[in-house]
Amino acid sequence: MRQLQLSIFSLLFFFLHPSLSSSPQPQSLQFKLHRRGPVGPHRAPHLNPLFLSDLRRQHWIRSTIKRNLESSKSYRPACHQSTSEAFEMPIGSGAYTGTGQYFVRVRVGTPAKPFLLVADTGSDLTWVKCRRHTDSMKEKGNGDGVRVFKPEKSSSWRPIKCSTDLCQKTLPFALATCPTPDSPCVYDYGYSDGSRAQGLFANESATITLSSGKKTKLHGLVVGCTTNSSGTSFTSSDGVLGLGYSATSFASLASSLFGGLFSYCLVDHLAPRNLSSLLTFGPTISSSLIPSTPRVTPLILDSRLTPFYSVSIKCISIDNETLDIAPEVWDISSGGGTILDSGTSLTVLADPAYKAVVSALSRKLAGLPQVQMDPFEYCYNWTSVGTELHVPKLTLHFEGAARLEPPSKSYIIDVADGVKCIGFTSAPWPGTSTIGNILQQEHVWEFDIKNRRLRFEHSKCQRH
Ligand SMILES: *[C@@H]1O[C@H](CO)[C@@H](O)[C@H](O)[C@H]1NC(C)=O
Ligand SMILES: *[C@@H]1O[C@H](CO)[C@@H](O)[C@H](O)[C@H]1NC(C)=O
Ligand SMILES: *[C@@H]1O[C@H](CO)[C@@H](O)[C@H](O)[C@H]1NC(C)=O
Ligand SMILES: *[C@@H]1O[C@H](CO)[C@@H](O)[C@H](O)[C@H]1NC(C)=O
Ligand SMILES: *[C@@H]1O[C@H](CO)[C@@H](O)[C@H](O)[C@H]1NC(C)=O
Repeated sequence: MRQLQLSIFSLLFFFLHPSLSSSPQPQSLQFKLHRRGPVGPHRAPHLNPLFLSDLRRQHWIRSTIKRNLESSKSYRPACHQSTSEAFEMPIGSGAYTGTGQYFVRVRVGTPAKPFLLVADTGSDLTWVKCRRHTDSMKEKGNGDGVRVFKPEKSSSWRPIKCSTDLCQKTLPFALATCPTPDSPCVYDYGYSDGSRAQGLFANESATITLSSGKKTKLHGLVVGCTTNSSGTSFTSSDGVLGLGYSATSFASLASSLFGGLFSYCLVDHLAPRNLSSLLTFGPTISSSLIPSTPRVTPLILDSRLTPFYSVSIKCISIDNETLDIAPEVWDISSGGGTILDSGTSLTVLADPAYKAVVSALSRKLAGLPQVQMDPFEYCYNWTSVGTELHVPKLTLHFEGAARLEPPSKSYIIDVADGVKCIGFTSAPWPGTSTIGNILQQEHVWEFDIKNRRLRFEHSKCQRH
């Protein structure tokens, strides 16, 4: 559902700006949603909501980076345990619900209950929809049964007290409210559409299945429990799985226990619900999904970009021709840089890069009949395109000679029947670029936090 994404990303904004959560509508959340030209005769049915949520997310990314620049806090991971064990969770496209997100199935609590969470490398908080027996939150069906976490039924549930250092110093989205030292650490956020949600943090466990087939528990996770929400926001998933790089994220804890790395393979973003791949913590699985010669580039864990994972682009080429883009665009210290984000759908390029890429691609496609399809700048009537048409080949060249050569469907994307659009959006310069999940699809991505490197390779993401 479209509003779900708005909620998630605007609430993330609130998490990071707890001081704003008491004022109902921070100005920065008020976007002009159709800022690129008038609404055309054809509306992209599934991508408009994506774009909308992407916009909000880009704002959130910019404000996070700004906040990081202003503070000197940075996360240093604990020692990584060496292990040959791994665990994995199914991950698939949420397109069947109309979102541009990927969903992971995660089992939370004791006994373990399954939840469908948005896999988000741009988020450092994991939370689930939750109901305490005293609450009167209305349960809304999401098409396949109501999944609401009931903390009183979980023997591993331990609310985090508001008097703890964890609440007061580490969880930046926690409220300062602390009536008694034993009161729970709470968060409170508002949505862009005026709805609100409230929750509390707890120390909780998740049940995982090791590669050996053995089930075990992951203890000491920080899990947010949303106890009260109003509005229609949370209807297609049960919460968020925080895969970002920070002290309390699920990814940091799980990867520190499993070899210091995690990976995911994203199926086509329009794949049906029954096609899923794997999110893996630990080393072994990559051997079955990553062929022997993956591409490798440094994984930049820069405190200025926390909790995001960042990569260094050297250049972009189209049909072997290097585009003329100023190197500052790819340089974090010059206000640029690039993050890899599973929670953003369309790839966002800082304006100088956007202009160069889109004009080169559109020049190559100049013979095709154009259609207007808000919010994209270039869309084409593809119905009469024969197989002989040469689709320009886009290549991202990373530091360390690794090249990403996405399939053309990842950047000239299907937007409506017979209509394809150049699938990039622009971000103001100076600013960060974001490699979104559509450009990442049909590749396996391994985030090797311990060795600070990113490995990737083309894969159909079929499970064995
Ligand atoms: C969670 O609880 C376990 C056991 O009660 C404890 O060892 C651990 O330190 C706690 N972790 C956090 C983040 O509070
Ligand atoms: C939940 O939200 C509703 C409306 O926003 C409010 O009336 C109610 O008091 C809230 N419940 C709790 C437990 O905070
Ligand atoms: C997935 O579902 C589609 C119908 O929606 C069906 O045609 C296909 O065979 C299913 N694939 C698998 C792997 O179950
Ligand atoms: C790009 O270079 C490769 C290898 O040099 C060549 O095979 C390919 O035909 C070139 N593509 C274009 C569009 O020039
Ligand atoms: C694309 O062109 C075909 C005829 O060539 C036309 O029938 C169709 O309506 C066009 N589609 C759009 C979206 O303009």
